Amino acid sequence: MRYVIRQSLCKRLQVQEGPFAELLLLGSGSFSQPALDRPLAGTGAGPGGGAAARARAASSWAGPAMAAEPPGARGFYRQLPKVELHAHLNGSISSATMKKLMAQKPDLQVPHGMTMIDKGKRRSLEECFHMFQIIHQITNRTEDILMVMKDVVQEFAADGVKYLELRSTPRDEPTTGMTKRTYVEAVLEGVRQCKEDGLDIDVRFLLSVDRRGGQIAAKETVKLAEDFLLSTDGVVVGLDLSGNPSAGHGKDFLEPLLEAKKAGLKLALHLSEIPNQEEETRLLLGLPPDRIGHGTFLHSSSLASGDLVQLVRQNRTPLELCLTSNLKSQTVLSSDQHHFGFWYNLGHPIVLCTDDKGVFATDLSQEYQLLADTFRLSKVQIWEISYNAINCIFASSHTKTKLKEQWHQLKTSVLE
Ligand code: IMP
Ligand code: ZN
Repeated sequence: MRYVIRQSLCKRLQVQEGPFAELLLLGSGSFSQPALDRPLAGTGAGPGGGAAARARAASSWAGPAMAAEPPGARGFYRQLPKVELHAHLNGSISSATMKKLMAQKPDLQVPHGMTMIDKGKRRSLEECFHMFQIIHQITNRTEDILMVMKDVVQEFAADGVKYLELRSTPRDEPTTGMTKRTYVEAVLEGVRQCKEDGLDIDVRFLLSVDRRGGQIAAKETVKLAEDFLLSTDGVVVGLDLSGNPSAGHGKDFLEPLLEAKKAGLKLALHLSEIPNQEEETRLLLGLPPDRIGHGTFLHSSSLASGDLVQLVRQNRTPLELCLTSNLKSQTVLSSDQHHFGFWYNLGHPIVLCTDDKGVFATDLSQEYQLLADTFRLSKVQIWEISYNAINCIFASSHTKTKLKEQWHQLKTSVLE
């Protein structure tokens, strides 16, 4: 059976090196989780720093800190009405949905550890991107996308998210006949069915441009996004630039992104997710984007990047911050070193998000709790962070007003 997996996954993924290939190609071996789900202990060269720093991080973070949690604290974070603005569809698949998908594809026996990083475990950013390739093999039909979409929306709603902007990369899958267009149609059908079911959540969608696809694929995605912007009555709101930050260069995407902006699509761009991307970041900030994903190294100590902080501050471009994602993919070494502290102290607009709640085994309530525990924030401060996120959504000012009313109605009961 392992050879079946090896052929069906590894060949299609063209994984040639790295720990995933080792696991997949061992043949004898083992999909044993310990090899992948290792605790951080100076292994794996994450971009965040050297062995000493990693050792420091290992001692200072072992999953969300919840030791001194007063009774009912968890309830507060769940009841808190929340806005989620940075969630990748295929990274948000829960283990329950993954089980359903796997049951339909018995020849793909992918172990849990290859699609999710458990509590207290970490991987390198590169390993995380291999995980997405594996997940994509599991969601290769439009019916998978529809099921995933409905489950993910339901899970966010159950977690107290009232407004959700999901993003996803449209994919062609010749083996199943799925095209980029039918992919987006499946996503939108999911939104429609959730609405019909009366879920208490407003869902919008951003089409993602994967850096790995290069300029031609980016232009194709922009064209598709423009079509759907006109035909979906406000559900499609924008475009995301994401994918492995080491792949390609931002300059290749300037033209399609500018075209998208001119067409009325909002831009959410992953920027400075890894160090030493000042040149690319400066170029993309010139567009300017409407929101920034992560921005982890925008404020890094080099004098040369001081102007990047200035640019972002001048435009008051909101940052989408994802603590567990950055910790588990090791771009941030401990929660107290997270760049939330830097931007929050400046009074800059930030939005707390999950990024990939499935892969990183989290949800938005846990992210708020981790933030509060790490930075010692009061319930009122947490409330304000959640409320201010409404200003950063891509939907109309009418939707913002409605959400603000909803927050006001809930305030007393949630804070008391
Ligand atoms: P999908 O677009 O719904 O297939 O979601 C998975 C994809 O989102 C991945 O293949 C990446 O392109 C992108 N992605 C997820 N997390 C990150 C991240 O932290 N940085 C950059 N891209 C990401
Ligand atoms: Zn992301």
